[in-house]
Amino acid sequence: MERIHMPCFLPGGSVAHRLFPLSYLARQLTLTCRVIVIAVKSAPLRSPSPLLLLASVMATARVLLRRGLLPGHRPIAATGRLLLAQTHSSLSASAKPKRLKTFSIYRWNPERPESPQMQEYEVDLNECGPMVLDALLKIKNEVDPSLTFRRSCREGICGSCAMNIDGDNGLACLTKIPAAESAAAAMITPLPHMFVVKDLVVDMTNFYSQYKSVEPWLKRKDPPPEMGKEVPQSKKDRAKLDGMYECILCACCSTSCPSYWWNPETYLGPAALLHAHRWVQDSRDQYTKERLEAINDEFKLYRCHNIQNCAHACPKGLNPAKEIDSLKKLQLQRSCMGLLERPFTENRGIEDTKGANGGKRCPPQNASPKRWWGSGKAKG
Ligand code: SF4
Ligand code: SF4
Ligand code: FES
Repeated sequence: MERIHMPCFLPGGSVAHRLFPLSYLARQLTLTCRVIVIAVKSAPLRSPSPLLLLASVMATARVLLRRGLLPGHRPIAATGRLLLAQTHSSLSASAKPKRLKTFSIYRWNPERPESPQMQEYEVDLNECGPMVLDALLKIKNEVDPSLTFRRSCREGICGSCAMNIDGDNGLACLTKIPAAESAAAAMITPLPHMFVVKDLVVDMTNFYSQYKSVEPWLKRKDPPPEMGKEVPQSKKDRAKLDGMYECILCACCSTSCPSYWWNPETYLGPAALLHAHRWVQDSRDQYTKERLEAINDEFKLYRCHNIQNCAHACPKGLNPAKEIDSLKKLQLQRSCMGLLERPFTENRGIEDTKGANGGKRCPPQNASPKRWWGSGKAKG
Protein backbone atom coordinates (compact mmCIF):
# COMPACT_ATOMS: atom_id res chain seq x y z
CA MET A 1 0.00 0.00 0.00
CA GLU A 2 1.34 3.44 -0.87
CA ARG A 3 2.41 5.51 2.06
CA ILE A 4 0.88 8.93 2.60
CA HIS A 5 3.43 11.41 4.02
CA MET A 6 1.99 13.32 6.94
CA PRO A 7 3.26 16.90 7.19
CA CYS A 8 5.17 17.48 10.43
CA PHE A 9 3.34 19.74 12.89
CA LEU A 10 6.32 20.09 15.28
CA PRO A 11 8.72 23.04 14.82
CA GLY A 12 11.91 22.01 13.14
CA GLY A 13 10.51 18.75 11.86
CA SER A 14 11.48 15.18 12.61
CA VAL A 15 14.88 15.31 10.81
CA ALA A 16 16.10 18.15 13.06
CA HIS A 17 14.74 16.24 16.01
CA ARG A 18 16.82 13.20 15.23
CA LEU A 19 20.09 14.85 14.15
CA PHE A 20 20.41 17.86 16.45
CA PRO A 21 18.44 17.10 19.64
CA LEU A 22 20.09 19.88 21.70
CA SER A 23 19.55 22.63 19.14
CA TYR A 24 16.01 21.36 18.66
CA LEU A 25 15.31 21.55 22.41
CA ALA A 26 16.81 25.03 22.59
CA ARG A 27 14.59 26.16 19.75
CA GLN A 28 11.53 24.65 21.41
CA LEU A 29 12.40 26.49 24.63
CA THR A 30 12.80 29.80 22.83
CA LEU A 31 9.48 29.41 21.09
CA THR A 32 7.71 28.44 24.33
CA CYS A 33 9.13 31.50 26.09
CA ARG A 34 8.00 33.69 23.20
CA VAL A 35 4.51 32.27 23.47
CA ILE A 36 4.44 32.80 27.26
CA VAL A 37 5.59 36.42 26.90
CA ILE A 38 2.93 37.15 24.33
CA ALA A 39 0.32 35.35 26.47
CA VAL A 40 1.24 37.25 29.64
CA LYS A 41 1.16 40.57 27.81
CA SER A 42 -2.28 39.85 26.45
CA ALA A 43 -3.63 38.22 29.67
CA PRO A 44 -6.99 39.70 30.72
CA LEU A 45 -5.90 40.36 34.37
CA ARG A 46 -2.83 42.16 35.76
CA SER A 47 -1.89 39.26 38.11
CA PRO A 48 -3.55 36.19 36.60
CA SER A 49 -3.88 32.86 38.37
CA PRO A 50 -1.63 30.02 37.07
CA LEU A 51 -4.65 28.30 35.59
CA LEU A 52 -5.71 31.41 33.69
CA LEU A 53 -2.11 31.92 32.56
CA LEU A 54 -1.92 28.34 31.24
CA ALA A 55 -5.19 28.81 29.39
CA SER A 56 -3.89 32.05 27.92
CA VAL A 57 -0.62 30.36 26.84
CA MET A 58 -2.53 27.57 25.13
CA ALA A 59 -4.92 29.96 23.37
CA THR A 60 -2.02 32.13 22.17
CA ALA A 61 -0.09 29.13 20.91
CA ARG A 62 -3.17 27.95 19.02
CA VAL A 63 -3.68 31.35 17.37
CA LEU A 64 -0.02 31.60 16.39
CA LEU A 65 -0.07 28.09 14.99
CA ARG A 66 -3.26 28.80 13.02
CA ARG A 67 -1.83 31.92 11.49
CA GLY A 68 1.55 30.39 10.75
CA LEU A 69 3.35 33.00 12.87
CA LEU A 70 5.66 30.50 14.55
CA PRO A 71 8.86 29.91 12.58
CA GLY A 72 9.08 26.47 10.96
CA HIS A 73 5.29 26.12 10.74
CA ARG A 74 2.81 26.33 7.92
CA PRO A 75 -0.65 27.67 8.90
CA ILE A 76 -2.87 24.79 10.08
CA ALA A 77 -5.51 25.35 7.35
CA ALA A 78 -2.85 25.32 4.63
CA THR A 79 -1.34 22.19 6.14
CA GLY A 80 -4.78 20.53 6.00
CA ARG A 81 -5.23 21.50 2.37
CA LEU A 82 -1.74 20.21 1.59
CA LEU A 83 -2.54 16.94 3.32
CA LEU A 84 -5.75 16.60 1.26
CA ALA A 85 -3.90 17.38 -1.97
CA GLN A 86 -1.14 14.92 -1.14
CA THR A 87 -3.67 12.22 -0.26
CA HIS A 88 -5.58 12.81 -3.52
CA SER A 89 -2.49 12.82 -5.73
CA SER A 90 -1.05 9.72 -4.14
CA LEU A 91 -4.37 7.91 -4.61
CA SER A 92 -4.74 8.92 -8.27
CA ALA A 93 -1.11 8.10 -8.91
CA SER A 94 -1.56 4.65 -7.44
CA ALA A 95 -2.54 2.13 -10.08
CA LYS A 96 -6.27 1.34 -9.80
CA PRO A 97 -7.33 -1.91 -11.42
CA LYS A 98 -8.47 -1.15 -14.97
CA ARG A 99 -12.18 -1.45 -15.77
CA LEU A 100 -12.02 -2.24 -19.45
CA LYS A 101 -15.20 -2.12 -21.49
CA THR A 102 -15.44 -3.11 -25.13
CA PHE A 103 -17.54 -1.02 -27.51
CA SER A 104 -18.52 -2.58 -30.81
CA ILE A 105 -19.35 0.32 -33.15
CA TYR A 106 -20.90 0.35 -36.63
CA ARG A 107 -18.46 1.78 -39.17
CA TRP A 108 -19.13 2.72 -42.79
CA ASN A 109 -17.30 5.27 -44.88
CA PRO A 110 -18.93 6.29 -48.20
CA GLU A 111 -15.49 7.08 -49.63
CA ARG A 112 -14.21 3.54 -49.11
CA PRO A 113 -15.26 0.46 -51.03
CA GLU A 114 -15.60 -1.77 -47.94
CA SER A 115 -18.99 -2.91 -46.67
CA PRO A 116 -20.23 -1.73 -43.28
CA GLN A 117 -18.54 -3.52 -40.39
CA MET A 118 -18.48 -3.53 -36.60
CA GLN A 119 -15.23 -2.25 -35.09
CA GLU A 120 -14.25 -2.89 -31.49
CA TYR A 121 -12.62 -0.42 -29.12
CA GLU A 122 -11.60 -0.87 -25.49
CA VAL A 123 -12.09 1.95 -23.01
CA ASP A 124 -10.89 2.07 -19.39
CA LEU A 125 -14.00 3.24 -17.53
CA ASN A 126 -11.79 4.68 -14.74
CA GLU A 127 -10.67 7.35 -17.20
CA CYS A 128 -14.02 7.96 -18.86
CA GLY A 129 -17.27 9.73 -17.98
CA PRO A 130 -20.34 7.64 -17.15
CA MET A 131 -22.32 8.08 -20.38
CA VAL A 132 -22.04 6.37 -23.76
CA LEU A 133 -21.33 9.76 -25.38
CA ASP A 134 -18.32 10.17 -23.04
CA ALA A 135 -16.92 6.86 -24.30
CA LEU A 136 -17.52 7.84 -27.95
CA LEU A 137 -15.79 11.18 -27.41
CA LYS A 138 -12.86 9.45 -25.69
CA ILE A 139 -12.50 7.00 -28.59
CA LYS A 140 -12.69 9.84 -31.12
CA ASN A 141 -10.24 12.08 -29.25
CA GLU A 142 -7.68 9.48 -28.22
CA VAL A 143 -8.00 6.41 -30.43
CA ASP A 144 -9.72 6.95 -33.77
CA PRO A 145 -10.48 10.50 -34.96
CA SER A 146 -12.29 9.14 -38.02
CA LEU A 147 -15.22 7.87 -35.90
CA THR A 148 -18.21 9.99 -36.90
CA PHE A 149 -21.33 10.79 -34.88
CA ARG A 150 -23.53 13.78 -34.12
CA ARG A 151 -23.65 15.52 -30.76
CA SER A 152 -24.03 19.01 -29.46
CA CYS A 153 -25.55 19.79 -26.08
CA ARG A 154 -24.49 16.70 -24.06
CA GLU A 155 -27.57 17.08 -21.87
CA GLY A 156 -30.53 15.63 -23.76
CA ILE A 157 -31.74 18.89 -25.29
CA CYS A 158 -30.64 18.96 -28.93
CA GLY A 159 -31.57 15.37 -29.86
CA SER A 160 -28.59 15.02 -32.18
CA CYS A 161 -26.84 12.07 -30.46
CA ALA A 162 -29.71 9.60 -31.04
CA MET A 163 -28.45 6.11 -31.88
CA ASN A 164 -29.12 2.48 -31.12
CA ILE A 165 -27.35 1.30 -27.98
CA ASP A 166 -27.49 -2.40 -27.16
CA GLY A 167 -30.67 -2.78 -29.20
CA ASP A 168 -32.55 0.23 -27.80
CA ASN A 169 -32.86 3.61 -29.44
CA GLY A 170 -31.74 6.41 -27.14
CA LEU A 171 -29.60 9.48 -26.65
CA ALA A 172 -25.91 8.64 -26.12
CA CYS A 173 -25.56 11.57 -23.72
CA LEU A 174 -28.35 10.26 -21.46
CA THR A 175 -27.55 6.54 -21.64
CA LYS A 176 -25.20 5.13 -19.02
CA ILE A 177 -22.40 2.85 -20.17
CA PRO A 178 -23.39 -0.75 -19.44
CA ALA A 179 -21.35 -2.12 -16.50
CA ALA A 180 -17.76 -3.07 -17.27
CA GLU A 181 -18.30 -6.36 -15.49
CA SER A 182 -20.76 -7.56 -18.16
CA ALA A 183 -18.64 -9.54 -20.56
CA ALA A 184 -20.61 -8.61 -23.69
CA ALA A 185 -19.41 -5.67 -25.76
CA ALA A 186 -21.72 -2.65 -25.91
CA MET A 187 -23.21 -2.59 -29.43
CA ILE A 188 -23.58 0.88 -30.89
CA THR A 189 -25.25 1.23 -34.27
CA PRO A 190 -27.09 4.01 -36.18
CA LEU A 191 -30.82 4.54 -35.76
CA PRO A 192 -32.52 1.50 -37.33
CA HIS A 193 -33.86 1.53 -40.85
CA MET A 194 -32.34 4.84 -41.82
CA PHE A 195 -29.99 5.64 -44.68
CA VAL A 196 -26.50 5.97 -43.24
CA VAL A 197 -24.42 9.00 -44.20
CA LYS A 198 -21.30 7.87 -42.32
CA ASP A 199 -20.71 5.64 -39.27
CA LEU A 200 -23.41 6.63 -36.74
CA VAL A 201 -24.76 9.59 -38.73
CA VAL A 202 -28.06 8.93 -40.52
CA ASP A 203 -29.89 10.93 -43.16
CA MET A 204 -32.78 12.79 -41.51
CA THR A 205 -34.20 14.40 -44.68
CA ASN A 206 -37.33 12.23 -44.81
CA PHE A 207 -37.95 12.63 -41.06
CA TYR A 208 -37.70 16.44 -41.24
CA SER A 209 -39.84 16.71 -44.37
CA GLN A 210 -42.54 14.67 -42.64
CA TYR A 211 -42.30 16.98 -39.63
CA LYS A 212 -42.57 19.98 -41.97
CA SER A 213 -45.61 18.44 -43.69
CA VAL A 214 -47.72 18.83 -40.51
CA GLU A 215 -47.01 22.60 -40.57
CA PRO A 216 -45.66 22.80 -37.03
CA TRP A 217 -46.30 26.48 -36.44
CA LEU A 218 -49.15 28.66 -35.19
CA LYS A 219 -51.70 29.36 -37.94
CA ARG A 220 -54.49 31.90 -37.46
CA LYS A 221 -57.33 33.32 -39.52
CA ASP A 222 -57.90 36.32 -37.21
CA PRO A 223 -55.27 38.88 -36.30
CA PRO A 224 -54.02 38.74 -32.69
CA PRO A 225 -56.24 40.57 -30.14
CA GLU A 226 -53.55 43.24 -29.76
CA MET A 227 -51.52 44.02 -32.86
CA GLY A 228 -47.84 43.27 -32.42
CA LYS A 229 -48.46 41.28 -29.24
CA GLU A 230 -48.59 37.55 -28.57
CA VAL A 231 -51.87 35.62 -28.57
CA PRO A 232 -52.73 34.92 -24.91
CA GLN A 233 -53.52 31.42 -23.66
CA SER A 234 -55.03 30.34 -20.34
CA LYS A 235 -53.00 28.15 -18.00
CA LYS A 236 -55.53 25.37 -18.47
CA ASP A 237 -55.14 25.44 -22.26
CA ARG A 238 -51.40 25.65 -21.95
CA ALA A 239 -51.42 22.52 -19.76
CA LYS A 240 -53.01 20.59 -22.64
CA LEU A 241 -49.69 20.82 -24.50
CA ASP A 242 -47.76 19.04 -21.73
CA GLY A 243 -46.37 15.75 -22.95
CA MET A 244 -46.03 17.10 -26.50
CA TYR A 245 -44.12 20.39 -26.49
CA GLU A 246 -41.11 18.67 -24.85
CA CYS A 247 -40.30 16.68 -28.01
CA ILE A 248 -36.73 17.32 -29.20
CA LEU A 249 -37.14 15.61 -32.61
CA CYS A 250 -34.47 13.01 -31.95
CA ALA A 251 -36.31 10.41 -34.12
CA CYS A 252 -35.82 7.63 -31.55
CA CYS A 253 -39.56 6.92 -31.64
CA SER A 254 -40.11 6.91 -35.40
CA THR A 255 -37.07 4.73 -36.07
CA SER A 256 -38.23 2.17 -33.51
CA CYS A 257 -41.70 1.88 -35.04
CA PRO A 258 -42.25 -1.26 -37.18
CA SER A 259 -44.96 0.51 -39.20
CA TYR A 260 -42.52 3.31 -39.98
CA TRP A 261 -39.90 0.76 -41.05
CA TRP A 262 -42.26 -0.72 -43.63
CA ASN A 263 -43.84 2.57 -44.81
CA PRO A 264 -41.20 5.23 -44.16
CA GLU A 265 -42.28 7.52 -46.98
CA THR A 266 -46.04 7.24 -46.54
CA TYR A 267 -46.65 6.82 -42.81
CA LEU A 268 -45.82 10.07 -40.99
CA GLY A 269 -44.45 8.27 -37.95
CA PRO A 270 -44.97 8.96 -34.24
CA ALA A 271 -42.83 12.12 -33.99
CA ALA A 272 -44.59 14.02 -36.79
CA LEU A 273 -48.02 12.85 -35.57
CA LEU A 274 -47.22 13.92 -32.01
CA HIS A 275 -46.51 17.40 -33.37
CA ALA A 276 -49.66 17.32 -35.50
CA HIS A 277 -51.66 16.68 -32.31
CA ARG A 278 -49.72 19.37 -30.44
CA TRP A 279 -51.01 22.01 -32.92
CA VAL A 280 -54.50 20.50 -33.04
CA GLN A 281 -54.67 20.92 -29.26
CA ASP A 282 -53.27 24.45 -29.21
CA SER A 283 -56.14 26.81 -28.23
CA ARG A 284 -54.57 29.67 -30.22
CA ASP A 285 -54.44 27.77 -33.52
CA GLN A 286 -57.43 28.26 -35.88
CA TYR A 287 -56.69 25.56 -38.44
CA THR A 288 -57.77 22.51 -36.46
CA LYS A 289 -60.20 21.29 -39.13
CA GLU A 290 -57.63 21.63 -41.92
CA ARG A 291 -54.96 19.93 -39.82
CA LEU A 292 -57.20 16.95 -39.14
CA GLU A 293 -58.21 16.75 -42.81
CA ALA A 294 -54.57 16.78 -43.89
CA ILE A 295 -53.73 13.63 -41.94
CA ASN A 296 -57.05 11.86 -42.58
CA ASP A 297 -55.34 9.22 -44.60
CA GLU A 298 -54.91 5.50 -44.44
CA PHE A 299 -51.15 5.79 -44.60
CA LYS A 300 -50.28 9.08 -42.92
CA LEU A 301 -52.17 8.30 -39.71
CA TYR A 302 -53.74 4.85 -39.81
CA ARG A 303 -50.54 2.88 -40.28
CA CYS A 304 -50.12 3.16 -36.50
CA HIS A 305 -51.21 -0.13 -34.99
CA ASN A 306 -50.62 0.89 -31.39
CA ILE A 307 -47.62 -1.38 -30.84
CA GLN A 308 -46.16 1.27 -28.48
CA ASN A 309 -42.48 0.84 -29.41
CA CYS A 310 -42.42 4.62 -29.71
CA ALA A 311 -43.39 5.19 -26.07
CA HIS A 312 -40.71 2.71 -24.96
CA ALA A 313 -38.02 4.42 -27.04
CA CYS A 314 -38.67 8.09 -26.24
CA PRO A 315 -35.76 9.40 -24.12
CA LYS A 316 -37.91 12.32 -22.92
CA GLY A 317 -40.56 10.01 -21.48
CA LEU A 318 -43.25 11.10 -23.95
CA ASN A 319 -45.96 8.82 -25.29
CA PRO A 320 -46.52 9.44 -29.02
CA ALA A 321 -48.82 6.40 -29.26
CA LYS A 322 -51.26 8.09 -26.84
CA GLU A 323 -51.26 11.29 -28.91
CA ILE A 324 -51.87 9.28 -32.10
CA ASP A 325 -54.77 7.57 -30.35
CA SER A 326 -56.22 10.97 -29.44
CA LEU A 327 -55.92 12.06 -33.08
CA LYS A 328 -57.80 8.96 -34.22
CA LYS A 329 -60.56 9.60 -31.66
CA LEU A 330 -60.91 13.20 -32.87
CA GLN A 331 -61.15 11.97 -36.46
CA LEU A 332 -63.84 9.50 -35.45
CA GLN A 333 -65.84 12.13 -33.54
CA ARG A 334 -65.70 14.57 -36.44
CA SER A 335 -66.59 11.84 -38.89
CA CYS A 336 -69.65 10.84 -36.80
CA MET A 337 -70.71 14.49 -36.69
CA GLY A 338 -70.28 14.74 -40.46
CA LEU A 339 -67.55 17.34 -40.09
CA LEU A 340 -64.85 15.50 -41.99
CA GLU A 341 -64.96 16.22 -45.72
CA ARG A 342 -63.83 12.69 -46.52
CA PRO A 343 -64.95 9.82 -44.26
CA PHE A 344 -61.79 8.08 -43.23
CA THR A 345 -63.28 4.67 -44.01
CA GLU A 346 -63.24 5.60 -47.70
CA ASN A 347 -59.72 6.82 -47.75
CA ARG A 348 -57.44 4.37 -49.48
CA GLY A 349 -54.37 6.64 -49.25
CA ILE A 350 -53.74 6.32 -53.01
CA GLU A 351 -52.59 9.90 -53.53
CA ASP A 352 -50.10 9.58 -50.67
CA THR A 353 -48.13 6.66 -51.95
CA LYS A 354 -45.58 9.16 -53.22
CA GLY A 355 -44.93 10.19 -49.66
CA ALA A 356 -43.37 13.28 -48.19
CA ASN A 357 -40.06 12.52 -49.88
CA GLY A 358 -41.52 13.01 -53.36
CA GLY A 359 -41.84 9.30 -53.91
CA LYS A 360 -38.08 8.82 -53.98
CA ARG A 361 -37.22 5.45 -52.60
CA CYS A 362 -33.60 5.70 -53.57
CA PRO A 363 -31.27 7.05 -50.86
CA PRO A 364 -30.54 10.78 -50.84
CA GLN A 365 -27.26 11.99 -52.28
CA ASN A 366 -24.16 11.11 -50.20
CA ALA A 367 -26.09 8.57 -48.14
CA SER A 368 -25.50 4.85 -48.03
CA PRO A 369 -27.32 2.89 -50.73
CA LYS A 370 -28.15 0.47 -47.93
CA ARG A 371 -30.58 1.05 -45.14
CA TRP A 372 -29.37 0.09 -41.71
CA TRP A 373 -31.95 -2.38 -40.43
CA GLY A 374 -30.59 -2.72 -36.94
CA SER A 375 -30.35 -6.48 -37.13
CA GLY A 376 -26.56 -6.68 -36.98
CA LYS A 377 -26.07 -6.49 -40.74
CA ALA A 378 -27.06 -4.04 -43.45
CA LYS A 379 -29.54 -5.11 -46.10
CA GLY A 380 -29.82 -3.53 -49.51
S1 SF4 B 1 -47.79 2.90 -31.40
FE1 SF4 B 1 -47.97 3.50 -33.51
S2 SF4 B 1 -46.38 4.99 -33.79
FE2 SF4 B 1 -45.92 3.93 -31.89
S3 SF4 B 1 -44.54 2.30 -32.51
FE3 SF4 B 1 -46.56 1.49 -32.59
S4 SF4 B 1 -47.26 1.73 -34.69
FE4 SF4 B 1 -45.49 3.05 -34.35
S1 SF4 C 1 -41.41 11.95 -29.21
FE1 SF4 C 1 -39.61 11.47 -27.97
S2 SF4 C 1 -38.49 9.96 -29.21
FE2 SF4 C 1 -39.96 10.94 -30.56
S3 SF4 C 1 -38.79 12.56 -31.53
FE3 SF4 C 1 -39.85 13.44 -29.75
S4 SF4 C 1 -38.36 13.30 -28.10
FE4 SF4 C 1 -37.63 11.95 -29.71
S1 FES D 1 -25.90 15.68 -27.37
FE1 FES D 1 -27.78 16.80 -27.39
S2 FES D 1 -29.24 15.29 -26.90
FE2 FES D 1 -27.36 14.22 -26.74
